[in-house]
Amino acid sequence: MESMVAEHDAIALEPLLEKVYRDGGYDFREYKRGTVTRRLERRLHATGVRTYWAYMKFLDAHPEEYQRLTDDLTIKVSGFFRSPYTSQQVAKLVLPELVSHKRKQRERSLRFWSTACARGEEPYSIAMMLAEFLGHRLPDFDISIHATDISRQALKEAWAGVYSTKDIEGLPSAILGGYFTGSGEGYEVTADIRQMVSFSYFDLASTTKPPFLNLDCIFCCNVLIYLQKTLQERVLGMLYDSLTTPGYLILGEVETPPESLREKLECLDSKAKIYKKNGKG
Ligand SMILES: C[S@@+](CC[C@H](N)C(=O)[O-])C[C@H]1O[C@@H](n2cnc3c(N)ncnc32)[C@H](O)[C@@H]1O
Repeated sequence: MESMVAEHDAIALEPLLEKVYRDGGYDFREYKRGTVTRRLERRLHATGVRTYWAYMKFLDAHPEEYQRLTDDLTIKVSGFFRSPYTSQQVAKLVLPELVSHKRKQRERSLRFWSTACARGEEPYSIAMMLAEFLGHRLPDFDISIHATDISRQALKEAWAGVYSTKDIEGLPSAILGGYFTGSGEGYEVTADIRQMVSFSYFDLASTTKPPFLNLDCIFCCNVLIYLQKTLQERVLGMLYDSLTTPGYLILGEVETPPESLREKLECLDSKAKIYKKNGKG
């Protein structure tokens, strides 16, 4: 796509992001510039305006554009059991240790957070992993999987829990047969799995105060890559505060914790990006 944004207009990027934050409530000020500008271009094409300045005027006249921009600025590529190796290592390293700890503490609660849940594939995969791992012991636990995102469109689809043939492609037949109903028209996640997951809007960039506390395990996968370093640090600091001890943090395959947290987190698997808060720091 040919760039519509002249170089002189590029200085309008900061005021535009400031406006989107101030008037629209969406904070992309500390996102990596490459993705933001590429995605903004799409909105310029879609709305037929040629410059960032004109786009600011367009936003004033069409406030519904803030949400469309947010939906376009966010990349929602995901998948059930997206990283097979990570899923395998969570089942091998995290779940046995966590469940055994809970048993010793005589605690029934298992609290998870999928921090950028997109269309729900990740939190539902967590629920399926728990169902697979716990088997007949599943009713012994109170499971809550909080699933949050800033794309309201993605949250709506996640909540519906219905997926296309392409979405479920490659899933083992035991998972497909055990946790989905339906056929080519649409595959719906079963009620048993859905009732473990609750979806809500939460912007990771909006605060350093955790919305949930005493969590056992947090998935923050494939969202940090879009954020600048300072924001990555703030987000991960907040996630660290949300975890109980022991608590587990799972990142995306190409993501790592910042220097400031490396000493406080034990790395359980550097390839699967599984970290553990032991409460030393
Ligand atoms: C590439 S998807 C990752 C989905 C899933 N975690 C995975 O690994 O497959 C990135 C998601 O991050 C969400 N996102 C981007 N910025 C966010 C923010 N500040 N707070 C919460 N979610 C955000 C996007 O809307 C999108 O759904």
